[in-house]
Amino acid sequence: MITVVGNLKGGCGKSTISFNLAVWLATAGIDVVTFDLDPQATLSDVAEVRAEEEILPEIKVFRPESNPTKMMKNHDGEMIIDVGAANLWAMRQAIAMADRVLVPIPPSQADVWSTARFKDIVEETVATKEKQPEIVMFVNRADTHPGVRESAETLEALHTLKGVRVLDTRIHQRTAYRRSFSEGRAVFEQSKTSKASIEFLELAKQLYPDVNF
Ligand SMILES: Nc1ncnc2c1ncn2[C@@H]1O[C@H](COP(=O)(O)OP(=O)(O)OP(=O)(O)O)[C@@H](O)[C@H]1O
Ligand SMILES: [Mg+2]
Repeated sequence: MITVVGNLKGGCGKSTISFNLAVWLATAGIDVVTFDLDPQATLSDVAEVRAEEEILPEIKVFRPESNPTKMMKNHDGEMIIDVGAANLWAMRQAIAMADRVLVPIPPSQADVWSTARFKDIVEETVATKEKQPEIVMFVNRADTHPGVRESAETLEALHTLKGVRVLDTRIHQRTAYRRSFSEGRAVFEQSKTSKASIEFLELAKQLYPDVNF
């Protein structure tokens, strides 16, 4: 299955989520490859740190020069594709081949607006396709303070968008995501029982219900 992780705005967590999902799948014994189609190459960088630290399982990351469309057609296992708006052409190419598009959204009005635009781009890109990819949205970087309303408001706004699946699992803004990432580790490799780990494992299970982790 091809999962494209995308959104228009920078910093919504595409690379963090792509990396953590790839490690989760690989740890579960699934044959997974990732494509880093963003010129910033964050996913490639984190995989390099992981390789330097000799952390297993290794995460395979392919860059645009590796002819991703051909590889996507030929790989049987799971594929996770990190796309950024900096390369709109690559983003559209990947979306055109996707089985699903996973959209992390920080809780703010500006992010809701740009996400609606991104949804339009996805729909335009696949308009002539026989099989449409599923569009799955979830809130990332939610505030951990219960008094802050933005996450609930963002979720409400996302629920009004037509033709998307909105996950109720939220990923919160937690230092564990940043810290583990900078060490080349998935958040659940640092601690299996941290809040970050528990919520990420729930997200992964929702996205891949058939995988035994
Ligand atoms: N849930 C989270 N909690 C805390 N920090 C997070 C979380 N998700 C992402 N971050 C941090 O936010 C920053 C942006 O995340 P990331 O690089 O994954 O986003 P991106 O969408 O790939 O950004 P870009 O558009 O620049 O490629 C990083 O410093 C990352 O560590
Ligand atoms: Mg990125």
